[in-house]
Amino acid sequence: MFPKPQDKHRESWGFSISTTLAALQAFSDNNAIATWRSFSIRRQSGDVMRLILLGPPGSGKGTQAKLLCQRLGLCHFSTGDILREAVRNGTSAGCKAQTIMAAGQLVPDDIVNEIVAGRFRNHDRPERFVMDGYPRTLAQALAFDDVLKSQSLDLTAVVSLVLDDAEVVRRLGGRWSCPKPTCMATYHMVTKPPKKPGICDECQTPLVQREDDREETIRNRLAVFHGQNDGLANHYRGQGLLREIAGHGDIEDVYAKIIEVIASKRGQDL
Ligand code: AP5
Ligand code: MG
Repeated sequence: MFPKPQDKHRESWGFSISTTLAALQAFSDNNAIATWRSFSIRRQSGDVMRLILLGPPGSGKGTQAKLLCQRLGLCHFSTGDILREAVRNGTSAGCKAQTIMAAGQLVPDDIVNEIVAGRFRNHDRPERFVMDGYPRTLAQALAFDDVLKSQSLDLTAVVSLVLDDAEVVRRLGGRWSCPKPTCMATYHMVTKPPKKPGICDECQTPLVQREDDREETIRNRLAVFHGQNDGLANHYRGQGLLREIAGHGDIEDVYAKIIEVIASKRGQDL
């Protein structure tokens, strides 16, 4: 349906056959307008978009980041995914993070800040990206400001997905994820089931449940989130970047609201 993010043709977006076919597909979807707006944004070559998604665990940061990545060609940067991979690979950061993550606490700022700063120092640093799960403390936000400043990169918007705790618990209790590092697709047994039970639609890998999706750990993660979120939100509100949107409702409706935010921040009629 949509071209893969690694497809080089995505960088020179034009009215090719694949674009036309994808556009036709877009109009057969329920949320054709939001999808068309994605095409409209993406079609403008040299277009720069740099987003941060904030929100409690289970608010849909990963789900929305993957859609933004597929449809707008943004680089999806998830510190949770990077840390889980580090745990699987037994790296020194992974060893330090493992028990902290399993308990639903935050990995120390210096470890995650260095992971992020290291990626941005690379010659192939992300130019157009969506940050998912970083920053999540004020100290991380300040460190990320420095990284962006040193690389002369500006943020487009910071979107905070608002969701109540009861819905978070319901969502995470039903989440299944693909463990394959190059895929990481996310499903929900009620709201977004895979076509074949227990198997990833994208790569056919058996799905797993995350260790930190047990109810007691979810409660810890929520407490950590509530302890940090005001400081973080105020920081970006002060920079005029924060937009809060409801994380409730259909996945495509939430996506459409994010697209609205991007359009309004960019002052364009898309
Ligand atoms: P991380 O992996 O970032 O987890 P999180 O923030 O707790 O968020 P989740 O991934 O659980 O939820 P999500 O918002 O991505 O929701 P999703 O789209 O999957 O971090 C894990 C751990 O790593 C942390 O606890 C910490 O220890 C450590 N860590 C990571 N970053 C760190 C940092 N910067 N500093 C320190 N430590 C860090 O959706 C959830 C479910 O809901 C899915 O099943 C999905 O299908 C479903 N769903 C999504 N949207 C909808 C919708 N609109 N309607 C119905 N269902 C929906
Ligand atoms: Mg996530």
